[in-house]
Amino acid sequence: MAQHIALAIADEERLDQQDPLRHLREHATIIPPQPTSVQNALLDLAVPLPTPHPPIRLTLAVDAAPGCGGITWPAGEVLARYLARRGPRALKGKRILELGSGTGLVGILAGALGADVWITDQAPLVPTMHRNSELNAPLAPSVRVAELNWGEPIPPDLPPTFDLVLAADCVYFEPAFPLLVQTLRDLLPPAQRETEALFCYKKRRKADKRFFALLKKHFTWEDVKDDPERETYAREAISLLRLRRR
Ligand SMILES: C[S@@+](CC[C@H](N)C(=O)[O-])C[C@H]1O[C@@H](n2cnc3c(N)ncnc32)[C@H](O)[C@@H]1O
Repeated sequence: MAQHIALAIADEERLDQQDPLRHLREHATIIPPQPTSVQNALLDLAVPLPTPHPPIRLTLAVDAAPGCGGITWPAGEVLARYLARRGPRALKGKRILELGSGTGLVGILAGALGADVWITDQAPLVPTMHRNSELNAPLAPSVRVAELNWGEPIPPDLPPTFDLVLAADCVYFEPAFPLLVQTLRDLLPPAQRETEALFCYKKRRKADKRFFALLKKHFTWEDVKDDPERETYAREAISLLRLRRR
């Protein structure tokens, strides 16, 4: 039985490596297919909002050259759709920081909903994030870009506190697990309990358990329950969690 499960996970991982977005295609969602070899392509996205609002239309540059974050990932789409469903009233004027933003889709969408947003990632993704924040500036004028490497001190030019911290599809590389936990601790100190943290995660490997073992020392979490799409993405091993500092 255990061997059977291990083989199934290995098969899933192999397919994910060939085509990390294959899960998205099964549900004809907001993100069109992007091969992992994509270079400098532009996507036109329509993100649905609650009625009576029309969808938010974003233009997103994707390019696999700077690294895995150069294309959008399944948990990023789930988190973007969830924020959109909460609608502009929930985010207007909120100060938000996104970790591992990649293309910046999630943070830019939050900006289009009226939030003040900092999208962050490692240096190779900074030009992609700048390009996407510029492409969408008319709709999302308060999106700023910063280099933020997990495990390093939070850059001093970022605000000292945030209302909301976001992370999508950031659990995939084991050496980075302690670094990501450290950055979450820095952004959500025990004295800062009012900061909300939404963490969207797609389970790919058994090793992911080690991330949650580290996280558990400093945080508790629960599933976000007010998302009507929850059952659909749960079938793709995606969970949307709300973290709380211990
Ligand atoms: C799988 S991608 C997800 C991108 C985006 N959040 C999405 O859902 O489409 C993971 C992102 O984490 C970033 N990342 C990985 N290790 C990092 C680190 N040590 N510090 C900062 N960002 C990191 C990568 O550059 C990449 O953009």
